[in-house]
Amino acid sequence: MCGIVGYTAKQAVEKRILDSLELLEYRGYDSAGLALFDTDTEQVEVRKCAGRVSDLRDLCGREAVHGLCGIGHTRWATHGGVSDENAHPHRVGCVTLVHNGIIENFEEIKDHYGLGQYLFSQTDTEVVAALINSFYNGHPRETIRRAVRCLKGTFALVIMFDDHPDVIYAVRNVSPIVAAYIPSGTMLASDVAALGGQADRYIVVPEYTIVELHKSAILLYDEADRRIEPEYYDIDWDTTRDGKGNYPFYMEKEIMEQPDTIRRTLAGRIKDGHISLEKDGVPDQLLADCQRICVVACGTAMHVGQLGSELVRKILHMHMDVEYASEFMYMDPVIDEKTLVLAISQSGETIDTLEALKYARRLGARSIGIINVRGSSIARESDYVMYTDAGPEIAVASTKAYTNQLAAFYALIGRMAVVRGIFDREQEREYAENLLQVPDKIQLVLNRRAEIHKIARSLLEAKDAFMIGRGMDYSILLEGALKLKEVSYIHTEAYASGELKHGTIALITQETPVIAAVTQDDLRDKELSNIREVQSRGASVTLLLREDIAADGIDCDYIFQLPQMPSLFMGFPASAALQLLAYYVSSDRGLDVDKPRNLAKVVTVE
Ligand code: M6R
Repeated sequence: MCGIVGYTAKQAVEKRILDSLELLEYRGYDSAGLALFDTDTEQVEVRKCAGRVSDLRDLCGREAVHGLCGIGHTRWATHGGVSDENAHPHRVGCVTLVHNGIIENFEEIKDHYGLGQYLFSQTDTEVVAALINSFYNGHPRETIRRAVRCLKGTFALVIMFDDHPDVIYAVRNVSPIVAAYIPSGTMLASDVAALGGQADRYIVVPEYTIVELHKSAILLYDEADRRIEPEYYDIDWDTTRDGKGNYPFYMEKEIMEQPDTIRRTLAGRIKDGHISLEKDGVPDQLLADCQRICVVACGTAMHVGQLGSELVRKILHMHMDVEYASEFMYMDPVIDEKTLVLAISQSGETIDTLEALKYARRLGARSIGIINVRGSSIARESDYVMYTDAGPEIAVASTKAYTNQLAAFYALIGRMAVVRGIFDREQEREYAENLLQVPDKIQLVLNRRAEIHKIARSLLEAKDAFMIGRGMDYSILLEGALKLKEVSYIHTEAYASGELKHGTIALITQETPVIAAVTQDDLRDKELSNIREVQSRGASVTLLLREDIAADGIDCDYIFQLPQMPSLFMGFPASAALQLLAYYVSSDRGLDVDKPRNLAKVVTVE
């Protein structure tokens, strides 16, 4: 989950490296560092510290370095705590390197090659630096290849050798590295965003290929040391960020962007009452023939599947497996060539989702990725891709990506219903119209954010909270609870209301606020009984209630009325309300809303 960058140029590189690290900071913000071949001292100089890229910038201001070739890193700690020593780059002998990934056998390597004496940190990465240094024979590629053969795990390694001061070397297994020509030189990085909008095409470095970055050439060598021609991908999407605008945090800005972004995601897929996936190139035959559907995803993206499975049952009358991608490979999943696997991911880089997708494809499944980041690893691995148009999502907590993924998912299921003969023309038109209403309904919720802010104030002192609902409401609340816990640090659990009394109700007291949702009219009365049960144990209750469902006889501390949509679509407005609730609790608690502790935006380690 670390971010890495390498840059060699005919001009000073330090500013570009720091700027790129800032663009990569969403990958990890425990610590940051850079190493340059310094033109004054004529040696590799390292600057690194625990903290943010802004701290590194300050450090580089105090202890200046100037060079034409350098590497940089933002860290999300895996091996070894957050400290200056554990920050990358690591330097042993004539080798300086940064690393993204996890080396599983670093202890064995350390013992086998007697490297302990060279180590000052607790990281797996420093062991690799020591290993490469101990193997170094003046031939970087030969040495890297020999070292890589010893490694077990995932890695993107970016390496400088003291005696090759203008060249950067890199190699990877699973963890991504992209490379590109930019006007002043050449760059490589963990993802295209770090190129800062300076390139219009890029190379994805193939696994175990060694890339050499020279000032005016990017050279790739396969495992037999043969030069290979790179394959280029166009960057035909906007990789730049337009800042927070007038918002104090990206999370708020991204919540507010949902109506526009969902309109964009639906455009081209819904037209004149028809649902079409023509622009995605998804063949109708695939949708008509598949006998099973399986979602692999993590976190918020997995919750799209969770809610989506209700839709699949109710519309397609099919069962859909929804699996944590991290568990998928170990559960002997039932997958065959008639299975359609949906890999859902904002970043397109989540390693568990990527590995689950690869595994499913090896078992014969066909696949569609629902992805936000163009050209990402999961997008490249999928047979077909439905891109969402959420635009760059910077806040760690996913908001607009979630509702955009849902919108794309709804379009997919709508199209399946058409090609499988479940929807007639009128049903297709009605479904399409409901979907097109989503942005306006979300906007109605956003317009009433002051009401949600007021409710949020009642949660500020809570240590634990529960969210309860039935059917689709339970699925909606799973995501609502994740949102609240990750940004506010209030331990929050979503519970199927009827299940509460089988144990968990023991935890309900006047100290545990409860957020309940009733968006499905047929579940109103049963849910009200469950609300009374928690109230009897002293809990205060906030209720999200669809506006046309009768409120009489309901006595809750707060009722927030959600704009009316057909039951199947209520996940959209309800989720917007829950996102705002989480946002306000976090910001009113004075937390770093966009960068919650221990989290990174892109999870590239297993
Ligand atoms: O990039 P992805 O959508 O694959 O990321 C999956 C999860 O890591 C992500 O949704 C995570 O749960 C978010 N922090 C939730 O807000």
